Amino acid sequence: MRRQLPFFFIMKKEKIAFITGAAKGIGKSTAAFLASKGCKVYITDIDLPVLEKTTKEFKKEGFNVVASLLDVCDAEAVEKQIQKIILQEGNLHYCVNNAGIQGPIAPLTQISIEDWERTLKVNLSSVFYCLQSQIKALIGLGGGNIVNVASMAGLNGAALGGPYVASKHGVIGLTKTAAIEVGAYNIRVNAVCPGFINTEMIDNVPKKILDYTTNIRVPMKRIGEPEEVAKTIYWLLSSESSYVNGHTMVIDGGMYSG
Ligand SMILES: NC(=O)c1ccc[n+]([C@@H]2O[C@H](COP(=O)([O-])OP(=O)(O)OC[C@H]3O[C@@H](n4cnc5c(N)ncnc54)[C@H](O)[C@@H]3O)[C@@H](O)[C@H]2O)c1
Repeated sequence: MRRQLPFFFIMKKEKIAFITGAAKGIGKSTAAFLASKGCKVYITDIDLPVLEKTTKEFKKEGFNVVASLLDVCDAEAVEKQIQKIILQEGNLHYCVNNAGIQGPIAPLTQISIEDWERTLKVNLSSVFYCLQSQIKALIGLGGGNIVNVASMAGLNGAALGGPYVASKHGVIGLTKTAAIEVGAYNIRVNAVCPGFINTEMIDNVPKKILDYTTNIRVPMKRIGEPEEVAKTIYWLLSSESSYVNGHTMVIDGGMYSG
């Protein structure tokens, strides 16, 4: 059961959501979908101009969003952001740890230490920082739901994507561990594993790999849209999935099935 809150907080019925990397792509679609479902969404990103543009679009739609600049590699800033939400809202229901980068596309022998460390920091350490702050806050509030955005690359190896693959395997490991540690506090932690999704992140994927994936690997013969990931994330956050915990949900048009 969630803890009894002061009267002025009880008046607020909307769900409070927090999303990283929400300026574009999957994060943006997820923020839009959550807002369309009546959530107040704290959208954060490291890219201020794009975040401002997205915020304008959202306001035009009538979405209830609050935008903040946030680099997920800055553990202190992450903690401050979560505390700010709790202070302003007295509540936090949904957290989506989505920010990520593709990292270098090269064989292991040609990847620099800097590129390795940067990819692991943005994609994996950031999720650890977010989980630490969120779990502490949600335990204090009596519960909540977290979804980490991993990848199909968190389930399989992929040539030329060593740091990305390692980071996303790590996100799945952290998700499962967190789910076990905090299930008893009414907190569920799940991960999504998208296949190829139509965002700027796949702009650098060579066309022949995309064509091969679409025509041969994916039974549905197309890549996914960010809105399709957003809807799945929402389902995992919502009470519709009330007994789903520590799960890694594949969203890939059937690619992983064969
Ligand atoms: N697009 C795909 O095919 C695909 C597939 C599987 C998983 N994913 C994962 O989905 C997530 C979102 O990716 P996307 O496809 O929407 O990519 P995208 O590049 O469109 O969006 C990523 C967002 O993260 C932000 N970001 C990057 N570094 C950040 C940092 N240090 N702090 C805060 N924000 C930061 C970017 O500014 C951007 O707005 C990522 O974790 C990615 O690994 C994407």
